[in-house]
Amino acid sequence: MKILVTGGTGYIGSHTCLALMAAGLEPVILDNLCNSKLSVLKRIEEVAGKAPVFYQGDIRDPALLDRIFQEQQIAGVIHFAALKAVGESTQKPFEYFENNIAGTLSLLGAMRRAGCYRFIFSSSATVYGDPQAVPIQEDFPRSTMSPYGRTKLMIEQILEDMQKADPRWSMTLLRYFNPIGAHESGRMGEDPQGIPNNLMPYITQVAIGRRDCLNIFGNDYPTKDGTCVRDYIHVMDLAEGHVKAWQVCGEQSGLHIYNLGTGQGVSVLEMVHAFARASGLKINYKLVERRPGDVAECWADPAKAQRELGWKATRTLDDMTRDSWRWQQANPNGYEE
Ligand code: NAD
Ligand code: WQD
Repeated sequence: MKILVTGGTGYIGSHTCLALMAAGLEPVILDNLCNSKLSVLKRIEEVAGKAPVFYQGDIRDPALLDRIFQEQQIAGVIHFAALKAVGESTQKPFEYFENNIAGTLSLLGAMRRAGCYRFIFSSSATVYGDPQAVPIQEDFPRSTMSPYGRTKLMIEQILEDMQKADPRWSMTLLRYFNPIGAHESGRMGEDPQGIPNNLMPYITQVAIGRRDCLNIFGNDYPTKDGTCVRDYIHVMDLAEGHVKAWQVCGEQSGLHIYNLGTGQGVSVLEMVHAFARASGLKINYKLVERRPGDVAECWADPAKAQRELGWKATRTLDDMTRDSWRWQQANPNGYEE
């Protein structure tokens, strides 16, 4: 069964392609390579034994989308393609709304033209804003603090309204917490361009000597050690969550919403120590001012996904740090062109 995977050469999309192929499904990738490299395809082929069909292009190109639906027997879409840097989104809100929202509408339009109604969307814990409590359940109120976050929230609302108006849709909203880690082979992982925004790639680049020192943003939060607490999830657990969501929700029309997290809160300092354990290296860090927009604590209640999808994250924090480090060590400059 063929699944159109937008953003399929990106970090989460590429790992999800591996999980789909391992489950006997056939990803067809559409990516404009604005934040990923063509060489990812070779690595997917190396790890999975087969290269997925690839279209280089944009989700905002209706003619290309129509061509893909004509050329391939697409049973549904997993939609990863988006711009995702929270800080950048405050500088370039138009680009974020245009790429993420107009792009998603363009994709949904092509699906309707093709009579394809099975859709899985990459949402984010960012839609919970500063949560009223932790762990976070799916029915908590939504609010968000950046243009990036607003794109996710608005798309969720668009999908809900479309599903209500046309019950043929199977709309699945997967809210990811903090994906880290890499494929166990060390051949695929996260390859951020420029200075990493996120904690784990920053730590691995300090460890490999590409950066001097990790800045820890704030140690005066009301948390166990003063640093922020997050729910880090292994990217392969997240990838496998998509396979389950495809298998379970894709069969049923309706609106399906799940947190994909581990349910464990880990502080920044705990992460630094866990990484030091995995790598045997000391990570230089300094404590600096809070980063605007960070919330103190954010972790999932993943019980609904376990109950309804039969999915649960199984990899530990040590697995995540070990796999991130294996990938970084073997690929000090990420994917080569
Ligand atoms: P990524 O940047 O590695 O992957 C996104 C891919 O989409 C890239 O390969 C990029 O080239 C492609 N893309 C972007 N705009 C496109 C367009 N208009 N047309 C075609 N391709 C386009 O990001 P990721 O970390 O793999 O994230 C995947 C999805 O998950 C995104 O929607 C992101 O918002 C969401 N998400 C990510 C995280 C995270 O921490 N990484 C957390 C929650 C949600
Ligand atoms: C984690 C913790 C930082 C970098 C972001 C998005 C969210 C979702 C996942 C897409 C925080 C601290 C970080 C550094 C640090 N993405 N930190 N020094 O902010 O929880 O979530 O990615 O949907 O929407 O906001 O992840 O990895 O940036 O930060 O101290 O150099 O690490 O303050 O407490 P975040 P992160």
